[in-house]
Amino acid sequence: MSRRKFICGNWKMHKTASEAVQLVRELRQKLDGTGAQVAVAPPFTALAAVKQALQGSAIQLFGQNCHHEKQGAFTGEVSAPMLKDVGCDGVILGHSERRQYFGETDDQVAKKVRAVLAEALHPIVCVGETLQEREAGRTWEVVSRQVRGALGGLDAAALQRITLAYEPVWAIGTGRTATTAQAQEVHAQIRGLLRELGGAQVAQAVRIQYGGSVKPDNAADLLSQPDVDGALVGGASLKSSDFAAIVTAAR
Ligand code: 13P
Repeated sequence: MSRRKFICGNWKMHKTASEAVQLVRELRQKLDGTGAQVAVAPPFTALAAVKQALQGSAIQLFGQNCHHEKQGAFTGEVSAPMLKDVGCDGVILGHSERRQYFGETDDQVAKKVRAVLAEALHPIVCVGETLQEREAGRTWEVVSRQVRGALGGLDAAALQRITLAYEPVWAIGTGRTATTAQAQEVHAQIRGLLRELGGAQVAQAVRIQYGGSVKPDNAADLLSQPDVDGALVGGASLKSSDFAAIVTAAR
């Protein structure tokens, strides 16, 4: 059993198209294509330029969100077929910033997961509790509700095509990383739930990334945990040397 580590950079609302191309050029120089699966998720406006800059590279291209409908009167939204058309390999879904600032619900995330799978794209489904929820002892209640909400009802074949990202909200952009034990505990619980939802093979195969202040100096420790299969990296993915160091730590 070995799950290939998967490191994705979530650039959030950073980088113009030309800045994004520059960052990708640097990454291509620093990464040799061996070891972990690597993806970058630039803002929509940079996807086409980054796709071109990635030609011939093993680095994958991800969107940061999409609408669940294929097309329609949804001003400001982008669909899964559009992301596929521009050359995306996958899409980040249900990020806590989407849930917090844009009111995304478990139900909407579930619809998006299905829309992304229907385009044969790879969803990264984000889950995680707030500080208040952790302090109230409700971490697993919240995380399990989010996992069930997004993935409930999918068959084993669909579940195997998904990556999960455990991102405790209190660790995002705060410099406050979950301890390796805190991360491993929730990751193991999620894997147990995957077993319940899809069986042993699904639980064995599905990768669970950790996200929340992953940096070059804590990545190796986090990634050494048995159920931590990669990282979803925010701030540190905007600097090529930091992101490359995290990818190297995944070896
Ligand atoms: P930071 O790495 O900046 O804490 O962000 C984590 C994150 O939200 C990745 O999706």
